[in-house]
Amino acid sequence: MQAYFEFQTPPRLLAGALALENIPHELQLLGAQRPLLISDAGLLRAGLLALCERALREGETPAQAVWTEVPPDSSISLIGRIADAYREHGCDSVVAVGGGSVLDTAKGLCMVIAHGARELGELMGCEAMPRGAHVPFIAVPTTAGTGSEATAVAVVRDDARALKMEFISGSLLPDAAVLDPRMTRTLPPRITAATGMDALCHAVEAYSCLQHNPISDAYARGAIEMIARSLVPATRGQGGDEARMEMACAATMAGAAFSNSMVGLVHAVGHALGGVCRVPHGEAMAILLPHCMRFNLDACAARYGEMLLPMAGPQVYVRTPQAERATAVIERIEAMLRELNAACGLPTRLRDTHASEEAFERIAQAAVNDGAMIVNPKEATREDVAALLRAAW
Ligand SMILES: [Fe+2]
Repeated sequence: MQAYFEFQTPPRLLAGALALENIPHELQLLGAQRPLLISDAGLLRAGLLALCERALREGETPAQAVWTEVPPDSSISLIGRIADAYREHGCDSVVAVGGGSVLDTAKGLCMVIAHGARELGELMGCEAMPRGAHVPFIAVPTTAGTGSEATAVAVVRDDARALKMEFISGSLLPDAAVLDPRMTRTLPPRITAATGMDALCHAVEAYSCLQHNPISDAYARGAIEMIARSLVPATRGQGGDEARMEMACAATMAGAAFSNSMVGLVHAVGHALGGVCRVPHGEAMAILLPHCMRFNLDACAARYGEMLLPMAGPQVYVRTPQAERATAVIERIEAMLRELNAACGLPTRLRDTHASEEAFERIAQAAVNDGAMIVNPKEATREDVAALLRAAW
């Protein structure tokens, strides 16, 4: 166990049927009544934003402004423009409805408003800054993956440098997260699979990285168990609201786990793939996870082996010799990826994504400079990362 660790508990959760309808009351408890509603065009088209707008209106906290133009990769400049809209419309709170990009954009927005900054770039090093003014913030995730609703992390693209920047601060946590089964009912199977694999990577890396602690371990184990049980059925459209809510809870728990320990090699390389080649984060995670686990195996076989218990249950765990458990975990993940590939075409090789072999050197360089690399259980050089990328090609 770590000689010393800190654990920030996840935010208050409003979870289950009609959770959206409780947002106005939550805003009132936070002393807010003029929210800026932030989302993306896809959720507007899918009618999910209308559900949230209606809940806000009927609860007498109607949105003062609605911003629906958040792209899949948010950026520092975009956050500056949304902050201008927040101020122009006299908003006093933020309700964010979306996946990781929307939630991370909202986190950046809250930071900019809290500190009276023009743009997020001014808040580099925010982990050492005093908390600014409180901006009431409610997160409504519409994917079960990033866990952003439970993390003190925002990943935002710096367009000028083609890099994904990580901002880390306890003040980035929302005041409340809303897990409503209506929000993931229309999620396309491939997004369900990719974001679910992101959640699995959060749990696996949180459990095996150098900064894990007993409380993050508990969240990670719980998430692994639920993802092993529900991700494939949820992707296939089986299991109804129960499977989707289990994935929503698992993603939040995995988020709480890694927010308090860290991630590792899979995320370091995944961030680089996203920054250089714009490979969607969840797809990068799915492809890289088994390769990175095999790379790390000699440094953390015992930790990986322990994950067989939540993943496969006590009977399989006891039947499997200790020396074979870590490999059994990796093989189970590979089998899950094959099932997801068959169910929705989730890519299992980098050649089937936006990645290009010519970019491998740049990706490897960016990966070894990524903050997540520091806590990986085994050091990886640029050459190691390039070899991983070739193996995943
Ligand atoms: Fe992730």
